[in-house]
This record gives sequence, structure tokens and C-alpha cells, in this order.
Amino acid sequence: MVDTKIVFYEVEDWVRSYLKEHGFEDDKVVLIAEPLREDNAYEAAEAEVVSVFVYSFVDKRVLDKLSAVRLIATRSTGYDHIDLKECKRRGITVSNVPRYGENTVAEHAFALILALSRKLKPAVFKINQLKFDLEGLRGFDLKDKTLGVIGAGAIGLHSIRIGRGFGMRVLAFDKYPQPILAEVLGFEYAPLERVLGESDVITLHVPLVKDTYHLINMDTIHQIKRGAILVNTSRGAVVQTEALVVALDVGILSGAGLDVLEGEESIKEEAQLLSDTLPVEKLRAIVRSYALLHRDNVIITPHVAFYSAEAERRIIDTTIDNINSFLEGSPRNIVKPA
Ligand code: NAI
Repeated sequence: MVDTKIVFYEVEDWVRSYLKEHGFEDDKVVLIAEPLREDNAYEAAEAEVVSVFVYSFVDKRVLDKLSAVRLIATRSTGYDHIDLKECKRRGITVSNVPRYGENTVAEHAFALILALSRKLKPAVFKINQLKFDLEGLRGFDLKDKTLGVIGAGAIGLHSIRIGRGFGMRVLAFDKYPQPILAEVLGFEYAPLERVLGESDVITLHVPLVKDTYHLINMDTIHQIKRGAILVNTSRGAVVQTEALVVALDVGILSGAGLDVLEGEESIKEEAQLLSDTLPVEKLRAIVRSYALLHRDNVIITPHVAFYSAEAERRIIDTTIDNINSFLEGSPRNIVKPA
């Protein structure tokens, strides 16, 4: 039985019974649906453990209110929402969930790929209007097409596996190729230019870092095979939105599936769109992205690629393990400032 006060922010109610099954008694656990903020941090003022997700910005001002905290257990892989240096200075441990849904994100990438290849958006729209003709609905097979995977890491490798399952030839571009993986999974590493030039379906799985910012841009769109489809489940800013619009307008791309949009981190709520502090460049990218919504050949989902029941369960399981191992004195999945 866990005898420490623990506060979970940004959490759904089903977690309560799950935590209870895992020895976290009701009177020790507080669940709060909203992200942790300065104005609701008082709820965790006496908690030794605070668990958050990515919309809780744990900065100095928030930490000032968490006087008893010893562990911040983020239920995400990324931890850029937490001031790690400040945590270190205060002797607060931070843990994360390094892996939880590689297959989950890859499956969503394929949901977007299939939605585009089988024209699901216009098909559903048509049938909702009780129109039964097939005009404009002819799709294409994935079998024997070329899949281009950009970033063949944990998620990219699952996309490769799924693509191979559909009978696709797979080309991959990665900064650190691992030839043994290519041999086992039956794909080929190639330079970016070749992947863009030969792929019918391009799926992005690189992290957003300096090198990958606007990887798809006004120059690289001209390397893309004419009529390809592009799917992005990585981070919005890997694709320059302006270039994406041009590529769709001139037919370089015949479709796009986007789970992530440039600037999306600034607009969790509608009201934020009206904020005076939103930089004009960001606002421009957001407006351009949302202007794509009306197109039949563009499908957008609200950053849900990670969001399956199984992945969520794995996230909670790892977080429980992180909390227990910390309380037992042998913390796991600790993240430290660079
Ligand atoms: P990973 O670190 O396992 O794989 C990334 C791969 O990209 C690595 O093989 C790495 O060598 C390669 N890479 C890095 N920089 C590169 C560059 N400049 N050029 C070419 N290749 C490069 O990461 P994982 O777990 O596969 O995740 C990939 C990204 O997916 C994450 O960084 C995140 O942005 C995104 N993601 C999106 C989610 C969603 O819900 N939409 C959920 C989880 C992750």
C-alpha cells in the first residue's frame, strides 16, 4: 500500500479505480482533470508526488507552490514542459515514460494513409448526404507502392513493419541507419532525396530538432514524386505549412494526413487564437493549417496518434512503476537537465 500523498493532474476518472487496484488508496490520491497551473497548484501543496501530462507547465512559479514535492512523474515521453534545472536545484526528481506507443502512433499514421488512399473523407461526406454515386472516390492500392519512412526509429520501424504487411516496398531515411534492421524487416535505407523522389506514400517519424525543422520546405517539395501523399504524425514544424499548401495546390502532393500542425502548441483552446501574445508568424502558420481543413484530400486529426486505450494503460503502468520505484528508493526512468 502506498502511503504518500499523490496528486495527478490532467487525468481521466477511470484512473482512480485502476490506481486503487495497484495499492494507491483513495484518501492518498487526488485526481484533477485540468493541467497543473499556478492557480490550482495549492491542491498539491502537501503532495510528495505530483504526476502531470504535457499541458502542465512546471516552472519556477509553479514549483514555489509545491513545497513538499519530491517526485514529478510526467506521463509523457517529452519533458520540455518541466524546468529540469530548477527541479534539480530544489532536489526534486523527475521521471518520464520513455516508451508506450510506438505501434500506436504507427497505426494512426496508417489510419491517415488509408483514409487518403481510399478517399474516406469525401466518401463519408457523400454518403452523409445520401449520395450513392462514386464520382471522385476512386482510391489506390497500397500493395506494390513505395512507402517512404523518414525517421526509422521506434515508431518509424513499426510503420515499416505495417507497410511491409500491406505488400509495400519500403525506403527509409534516417540519420543513423542500422543495416541489420533493413535486412530483418526487408527495407532499404536511402538518402532523403531518393526517398522523396521514389515514394508514393511518405510518412514522417523524425523528432523535431534543429536539423528536422521544416525538413519538408519550399526546396524539398520539388524532390517529391508527383502525386504522392504525405502523412505527418511527428511534429507540426517538421513541415513548412506554406510549402505544404503549395505542394497541394500544384499537384506535387495528391493528399496530406496531419495529426500535428505547425503552431498547434499555442492553441489548446479557441480563446488562445485571440491572444495578443501569439507571434504573427505562428498565427500565420496556424491559419494556413486550418485553411487546409476544407480540402477533400487533406485529413487532420487533433494530435491523437498516441491516444489508444492500450497506450494509455501502458503510460499509467509505467507511471505507477516510476512512483513505486522512487518511493522504494530505486527510482527508474529519471530525466536530468542536459
Ligand atoms: P525515436 O527517437 O525512436 O526515432 C526517431 C528517429 O529519427 C531515429 O531513428 C533518429 O535516428 C532519426 N532522426 C533524428 N534526427 C534525424 C534527422 N535529422 N534526419 C533523419 N533522421 C533523424 O523516436 P520515436 O519514438 O520514433 O518518435 C518519433 C517522433 O514521433 C517523436 O519525436 C515525436 O515528435 C513524435 N510522436 C508523436 C506522437 C503523436 O501523438 N502524434 C506521439 C509520440 C511521438
